[in-house]
Amino acid sequence: MMAIETPALMLEEKKLRLNLQRMMDVAATGVQVRPHFKTHKSLYIAKLQMNLGACGITVATASEAELLLENGFRDILIAFPLTDHEKIRRLMRRIPAARVIFTVDSEEQAALVERAAKQEKVTPEVWLKVNSGLNRCGTEPGKETLLLAKKLAAGGLLRLTGVYTHAGHSYAACSAAEIAQIAAAEADSVLLSARLIEEAGIPVPHRSVGSTPTFELAAQYKGITEVRPGNAVFFDGMQVGLGTAAWEEVALTVLATIVSRKKDRLILDAGSKALTTEKGAHGNERMKGFGKLVTKEELYITRVSEEHGVVAFNQQQPSPGVETGGTGLSLNDRVAIIPNHACPVVNLFDHYYFMKEDGGVDILPVDARGMSQ
Ligand SMILES: Cc1ncc(COP(=O)(O)O)c(C=O)c1O
Repeated sequence: MMAIETPALMLEEKKLRLNLQRMMDVAATGVQVRPHFKTHKSLYIAKLQMNLGACGITVATASEAELLLENGFRDILIAFPLTDHEKIRRLMRRIPAARVIFTVDSEEQAALVERAAKQEKVTPEVWLKVNSGLNRCGTEPGKETLLLAKKLAAGGLLRLTGVYTHAGHSYAACSAAEIAQIAAAEADSVLLSARLIEEAGIPVPHRSVGSTPTFELAAQYKGITEVRPGNAVFFDGMQVGLGTAAWEEVALTVLATIVSRKKDRLILDAGSKALTTEKGAHGNERMKGFGKLVTKEELYITRVSEEHGVVAFNQQQPSPGVETGGTGLSLNDRVAIIPNHACPVVNLFDHYYFMKEDGGVDILPVDARGMSQ
């Protein structure tokens, strides 16, 4: 048995495979699936996704795209408005051996992509990003998006083939009904924009939506051609809180060791450098603490410093006993923690311990760890 030193990133193969299948099940509604790489950053998992029928991979950074291209992936959406001339040029040099789709989200950024395309003598595919309510990047759906599409068409240097959005604000939803409303608006923002652009004579064959809470719902709207789930590969405490997943579906945990026991608290060797300080994402900061212990008491980490996680017993989390909280946990015992937000946690580790269905454990590198450029 492999010696595992903590804190360690643990991934259960059985749950991973079920989650990958759940992700692909939306294909039954006729849409394609382009999973987001940012969550797992693993070439092995990306290959599993392609083998299960994914049409390509979504990335957030140029370095993630380059890693995938160097490893034989041939259909990449860069779901981020690149502005760096050298990054854009380097990626354009991969065309036509690979399909590299660039994001355009404003006229001034489009000019930078056009400049690089002219220099590299390619006519790259671009997708327009629309803002469906997250209020991050993207043009407003409808007229503003149409205007930009017309400008691109007039320029003739870029080939507009798609419109997409990311409804990250679904993370802040307070009910299933609210998630459904956001999914409807997400689909609508893309479909409305695509319709107006097509009425202007520019075909928009790709209409892509994404976000773990909404993708299964948004996929059902007629005219949507693609979904881009990321977090759904693992799920986490936040997705359970939203009702997107059950505890049993969470494939990723952080293994930690009890390093000290006090009357009113336990101390673990997993702090912010293993769990992050995230209490949620995209406006949902509702998570209690910094991760839940997978024990029958369902204790949670109340406080983190860099290397320490503290499970304090107080009014909110009453001690089940007096000494060491009566949790039955001893010094050097190990506990599995479900992180609040899996995506940034993965980026803190060099590798996963991959707990295989046959009982073995493999080391799986987090290949794109730190590839934020
Ligand atoms: C553009 C884009 N698409 C898809 C996703 C995947 O979202 P999720 O991890 O909620 O599935 C993200 C996540 O941030 C994103 O930014």
